[in-house]
Amino acid sequence: MPENNYTTSMLKSDALKDKVILITGGGTGLGKSMGKYFSELGAKLIISSRKIDVLNKTAEEISSLTKNDVFPFACDVSDYKQVEVLLKASLEKFGRVDALVNNAAGNFISPTEKLSNRAFDAIVNIVLKGTYNCTLAFGKHWIENKNKAVVLNIVTTYAWTGSAFVVPSAAAKAGVLVITRSLAVEWAKYGIRFNAIAPGLFPTKGAWERLLPGDLQEKLDAIKKIPLKRVGEHQELANLAAYLISDFSSFINGEVITIDGGEWLNGAGQFNLLQAVSSEQWDDIEKMVRGVKGS
Ligand code: HXC
Ligand code: NAP
Repeated sequence: MPENNYTTSMLKSDALKDKVILITGGGTGLGKSMGKYFSELGAKLIISSRKIDVLNKTAEEISSLTKNDVFPFACDVSDYKQVEVLLKASLEKFGRVDALVNNAAGNFISPTEKLSNRAFDAIVNIVLKGTYNCTLAFGKHWIENKNKAVVLNIVTTYAWTGSAFVVPSAAAKAGVLVITRSLAVEWAKYGIRFNAIAPGLFPTKGAWERLLPGDLQEKLDAIKKIPLKRVGEHQELANLAAYLISDFSSFINGEVITIDGGEWLNGAGQFNLLQAVSSEQWDDIEKMVRGVKGS
């Protein structure tokens, strides 16, 4: 068995055979990695984002590798009219859509007081509005046509903790998490499942350039905060996403699965900093603590 077998495919090769899956933001980064794996597992893909040249390139790259259909379609998810056109085009191409991955996002680090209202809008419109636009348009179609479906929302670990310096993203991702949990209950009766993945640090050009620009990565030593002392591999996120899209996860509904090497909990636990204490220091500490008698 290879040592790092989390970098290899987890599911059997036909696990998503003939499922039609739309991935927003599917031309780059984690969307592209998920798409590639879904396609390897037999899925027919629709990938959408604003840049058609990027989508065309990714579609060609994936389909030449897997020999399965990949349909690139330009759509700004913050515009409901464009989402309706995307739905129509997807149905014309494949006849149905079985799963939606709300992955498109916008983000950058900034002190909040430096943001214009338009900057705040730009992030919330992509992340929160984009997610509810796609969910609503595709959901209405599924319900009207009695189609079963799966929605997978990509959030972040600060969706529930909040985070300084990415406030529009945190607010929007929190909204996406709440949509996930609300509709998991409300639309279960229609056979529509909702789950979310909260990734920790997974290197992508889009995120790194905007969140850890220049030498910030070395300065912050972001990996130090992660108990497992490494960043995520795209394949391990793709494995989890494929499972949540597949029929194997049919009883999982309304869940958010964190895949971050323990990072957010490390930041949360009050005494976690004691990891820095050496075993010799622990011996001294024990003596001091045992020496305390009464108050
Ligand atoms: C302050 C900024 C800014 C910055 C843009 N703005 N960048 N303000 N600091 N760094 C302001 C602009 O001046 C403008 O306001 C407003 O935001 C809208 O900017 P536009 O460039 O017109 O917007 P748009 O073309 O829609 O681009 C959206 C974008 C861009 C978010 C700004 O970066 C983008 O397209 N991003 C998509 C990909 C992405 O962000 N990927 C990373 C996802 S990572 P004014 O007032 O001047 O008009 C992620 C990970 C989370 O989510 C967790 C990691 C651990
Ligand atoms: P990315 O490559 O920048 O992906 C974002 C994608 O969203 C791009 O393909 C972009 O394409 C698309 N997009 C942006 N605005 C859009 C719009 N209005 N309409 C349609 N598509 C739009 O970054 P990533 O790191 O792979 O992020 C993917 C997802 O993972 C995001 O939800 C992000 O929040 C989440 N995440 C990532 C990390 C990480 O460490 N990488 C951690 C936590 C969460 P266009 O520019 O062509 O539109």
